[in-house]
Amino acid sequence: MTCLFAVFLVFVISSPCLYARITHGKKYIFNVLDYGASGNGKIDDTNAFMAAWKKACGATGDTPTLLIPSGKTFKLQPVRFEGPCKSESVHVKLKGTIIAPRRDDDWKWSNNDRKTWIRFYNIKGLVINGGGVIEGQGDSWWSCKSNRKCDRPIALSIIHCPHLKLVGLTSKNSQRNHFSINHCNGSFISDLRIYAPGNSPNTDGVHISESAHIVIQNSHIQTGDDCVAIITGSSFINVTGVTCGPGHGISIGSLGRNGAYDTVEEVQVTNCTFIKTTNGVRIKTWKGGSGYARKITFQDIILQHVQNPVIITQQYVDYHSKNNHGSSSAVALSDITYKNVGGTSESEEAIQLNCDKNVPCTNVVLERINIISSNGGKIQAACQNAEGTFSSCMPNVPCLV
Ligand SMILES: *[C@@H]1O[C@H](CO)[C@@H](O)[C@H](O)[C@H]1NC(C)=O
Ligand SMILES: *[C@@H]1O[C@H](CO)[C@@H](O)[C@H](O)[C@H]1NC(C)=O
Ligand SMILES: *[C@@H]1O[C@H](CO)[C@@H](O)[C@H](O)[C@H]1NC(C)=O
Repeated sequence: MTCLFAVFLVFVISSPCLYARITHGKKYIFNVLDYGASGNGKIDDTNAFMAAWKKACGATGDTPTLLIPSGKTFKLQPVRFEGPCKSESVHVKLKGTIIAPRRDDDWKWSNNDRKTWIRFYNIKGLVINGGGVIEGQGDSWWSCKSNRKCDRPIALSIIHCPHLKLVGLTSKNSQRNHFSINHCNGSFISDLRIYAPGNSPNTDGVHISESAHIVIQNSHIQTGDDCVAIITGSSFINVTGVTCGPGHGISIGSLGRNGAYDTVEEVQVTNCTFIKTTNGVRIKTWKGGSGYARKITFQDIILQHVQNPVIITQQYVDYHSKNNHGSSSAVALSDITYKNVGGTSESEEAIQLNCDKNVPCTNVVLERINIISSNGGKIQAACQNAEGTFSSCMPNVPCLV
């Protein structure tokens, strides 16, 4: 009797799981080909993607998946994948290639948001993976150097998607930033491959803003602007195992533009390699801004022919822009550590700590720095208004106060 009851109980408990597992294979996969996508790289597949997304986002149950199959190329006009979705976690499996229309050919802005090509918005537990490719055809936009004039779009923008997982994608030739992550606490970003020419304008690799507890790891970034930029509202950010170059390095900022109050704190950049980049590890804030960047650590950094390996520019001024000369305030910089940074510098001033007279940088710590000249020349550090300590540094940093 007891035994029979136990068997019955086990059956009741396990059967829903069994049911979910059996149905998972088909029921929750929404293949864009089943919704009319052509995948020939020429016909606009936007409507098919929207129809499949609507189903995936509206599906209840276990990880509904929007499937973009391999071996095909899908052309998408500016497109919005929006939540909230019914499921706790929605997957986008990008196995094939998504390609943008060319600006000079058949690009169509469909609404008032002229900032983004592909946008994911307000989706909990979004997982984007699959090893596929996003091709922005940015060369059709780059000749227009002024963003204001031609609305060069961000290739992939992910906004309000907490617990995002973005893994194993390739982005090529983004029109502007490759990936922008905004308001996505608790996200994991890994194994990205990012490619654009070194002279392509504003093609930041990964842009993080207004997000806490983010890991970015094991990625190769070759682009025309910052490989990773950590901007306002970001905290507890780990960047590790990133190879950058060409590019402008890994940057905190810019912060404080046009008098903004901006904050960044608790950032760890570890085990990163810079190859022929303009900067290595950088902090950049604008004259006239306020707020802070603090508790920033750059550790285990390898430099190969880097123009400005270690650089803080606290009072950045753009002489083309009129309105940032007025105020003399500054974004406060403190608790900034450089540990085990080594390799070759293209410039003589391998370490530049340029801080403000009224708001000096405080507690700047340099330990085990070993930077030599790429061409056998002299190497030195330069500081203005930087307070802190150094030990075992080549070059020495006697300009710290
Ligand atoms: C994200 O994290 C920050 C810092 O921990 C917190 O202030 C903010 O409320 C969080 N946002 C959301 C939407 O959870
Ligand atoms: C971030 O890095 C620090 C030090 O490298 C480590 O202690 C911490 O656990 C990391 N956080 C995450 C979420 O990986
Ligand atoms: C450092 O990063 C490289 C990728 O550039 C990775 O292969 C390696 O495992 C990382 N090492 C550690 C100790 O995390």
